[in-house]
Amino acid sequence: MAELNARVPLIAGNWKMNLDHLQAIAFVQKLVWTLKDADHDYADTEVVLFPPFTDLRSVQTLVAADKYELAYGGQDLSAHDSGAYTGEVSGAFLAALDSKYVIIGHSERRSYHGETDEIVNKKVLAALKHGLVPVICVGETAEDLEKHGPSAVPVGQLRTALQGVSADADIVVAYEPVWAIGSGQAATPEQAQQVAAELRKLLADVLSEESASATRILYGGSVKSGNIAGFMRETDVDGALVGGAALDLAEFSAIVRFKKHVGA
Ligand code: 13P
Repeated sequence: MAELNARVPLIAGNWKMNLDHLQAIAFVQKLVWTLKDADHDYADTEVVLFPPFTDLRSVQTLVAADKYELAYGGQDLSAHDSGAYTGEVSGAFLAALDSKYVIIGHSERRSYHGETDEIVNKKVLAALKHGLVPVICVGETAEDLEKHGPSAVPVGQLRTALQGVSADADIVVAYEPVWAIGSGQAATPEQAQQVAAELRKLLADVLSEESASATRILYGGSVKSGNIAGFMRETDVDGALVGGAALDLAEFSAIVRFKKHVGA
């Protein structure tokens, strides 16, 4: 079994519906310069951006031309490969833009677009089919937390999301409690650790021990430069999926560089 510390930490920025392609170009350039000035080693902490679909071509062009080590991907994808699905984006198109990752089942997709666990599962299979690494989002609402306790809902969501997924699939899991998203009220590191440990147990059960020890589990929900170090000290938390703070260059680059202020 691989050692726990074999997992490379992953800091991801989910821009949601913010920044057009021109703003994306400026932001990505400034982020890369800031991290370069700070001697950031991408092999030590991976950095991934999730811009809106319309930005991806611009981000790809910039990253490829200047050989940036940033990875990027879509915030969603279609469960279908192609066809009469107006407004949808195929995983094949994301892969053609050299996307490495794709977010699937974000709570905003689940609540505003009616994405069920079954749809999330189909999208996970579609992502893997097109060679994308799905970042599978799970998380409970405040009501779920009261009714079912901390891990039942996220564990159930992940179980369904993984149906038909092969034991050695390359995936990332993001635990994002709905009550912590955009609220300024992050989970405590202990809460995040408790759920992440349960999610890892499920990975061992339904995929394999190897997969459980290799898969990165992220925490998301009001992550900031001031609280990231606490999450990253937990053994089962391997990174963060950052929303609001990912739109602030100084904040996001400080989150990426969490190792510099782990004692803070
Ligand atoms: P915030 O960091 O704004 O709480 O958003 C978290 C999130 O939803 C990332 O996907």
